Amino acid sequence: MRIDILCLFPDMFVSPFSHSIVKRAEGKGLVEVVTHNIRDFAHDRHATVDDYPYGGGAGMVLKPEPVFEAVEHVQALTGNTGGPIILLSPRGRLFTQAVATELQSWSHLILICGHYEGVDERVSEHLATDELSIGDYVLTGGELAAMVVADAVVRLVPGVLGSDESSTEESHSGGLLEYPQYTRPEAYRGWVVPPVLLSGHHGEIAAWRRRQSLLKTAARRPELLNGVALSDKERAWISGRS
Ligand code: ADE
Repeated sequence: MRIDILCLFPDMFVSPFSHSIVKRAEGKGLVEVVTHNIRDFAHDRHATVDDYPYGGGAGMVLKPEPVFEAVEHVQALTGNTGGPIILLSPRGRLFTQAVATELQSWSHLILICGHYEGVDERVSEHLATDELSIGDYVLTGGELAAMVVADAVVRLVPGVLGSDESSTEESHSGGLLEYPQYTRPEAYRGWVVPPVLLSGHHGEIAAWRRRQSLLKTAARRPELLNGVALSDKERAWISGRS
């Protein structure tokens, strides 16, 4: 998979992507992340990328020309004109594990990071094929959001995680929060590991984990249960009837 990130602060990506799983994935040749500075596509010698909003109001708006031309540059470079072009913005659809899974199936993604007070609407209307928000809060720019999206997608690319780091049992992968995990020591400050986990009984361990997953999800994120098929027994666990 190749991910091209168009932004105003490419240096922001250097440190995060030189330590994480993204770096390892690049080392294995599974993923390539390339950043581009939108400013390089400005039209004037001052490299202006923003301007005042028509109609007045606070802040500056990212101009359309450098963004369109940066995307066209990447498309010419990669020969790819069919993959998703994603604008990161607090107005986008919510980025979830399901969206990460959907994006992982593409061989090429283009991520556009907004900045200033906004991005000229023609980018959203006529260039981006998707608009994603990483949550209901406003960041100073799309860079951190692009890092979140790239990280969550890259770790799902086949071969990126080792077999001992499988992504199939973690929080959100089955629509539920993950069950509690423990490691040694067996007793720490008087808090002991649930005995079932030491029993060696795989069936009981799996049942305990499923129940814990459901209880944790019901307590913390009950709305997630709407998307999960539950047995009568599981419904009883959640309602505290057994
Ligand atoms: N840019 C600013 N805030 C953002 C958010 N919450 N998600 C994605 N991009 C953003």
